[in-house]
Amino acid sequence: MNLIKVKDYEELSRAVADLIYMEVNNNPECVLGLATGSTPIGAYKCIIEDYNAGEIDFSDVTTVNLDEYVGLSPENPQSYRYFMDENFFNHINIDKSRTHLPDGMAQDPDAEAERYEELIEELDGIDLLLLGMGHNGHIGFNEPDEEFVANTRRVYLAEQTLKANSRFFDSTEQVPESAITMGIKTIMSAREIILAVSGNDKANMLKKALFGPITPRVPASVLQLHNGLTVITDCLE
Ligand code: F6R
Repeated sequence: MNLIKVKDYEELSRAVADLIYMEVNNNPECVLGLATGSTPIGAYKCIIEDYNAGEIDFSDVTTVNLDEYVGLSPENPQSYRYFMDENFFNHINIDKSRTHLPDGMAQDPDAEAERYEELIEELDGIDLLLLGMGHNGHIGFNEPDEEFVANTRRVYLAEQTLKANSRFFDSTEQVPESAITMGIKTIMSAREIILAVSGNDKANMLKKALFGPITPRVPASVLQLHNGLTVITDCLE
């Protein structure tokens, strides 16, 4: 594991952006796996700055996002598609048809999850995957559980995640109860992974994830087994 400890969120954002920058410049046809949430917003801003400075070209890049809420359309400001467009894709020269998220409006979310898994296989997998981590150690929407679940699938969100995500909605009741998420095998198949974790309130969980036993009770702990893991964090001494 490559552990990069940074001073604050600003440094974290720049460090994440630099790794994405290097990947895209070394491999202009790369497949990036991307996350939503508060953590990557600063990194996306940094990359947009690099793009505006003429330093990075996304015309041949493909992206696959980790997850999407079931029941939210792309026009819904709380959907992850909307988030990605607003915070990243609308500001760079990426071909939107190459930006993929699970379809939250699919009639059959289980079939949609299967289609998404196949799509990632057809793309020959993910070159670089950016992950955040929830306070309960979740990655994507792989919540603490009795076992690791391999494949992309529909999941029902843990109570803690519903509460945490309600900050983006008017109330907890409005947070969709389920989502489609990449599974643990899908995540672990990425050739390189960046885990970005910010804020002291995640420090204990991050220590458990990186240095504790590998257990589905702490989903991020499985990343200890990945050979190409870089952790970038401002919450470890
Ligand atoms: C987002 C995702 C989630 C978040 C995690 C951390 O696509 O899959 O696992 O990465 O909930 O969220 P923030 O960054 O908002 O603390």
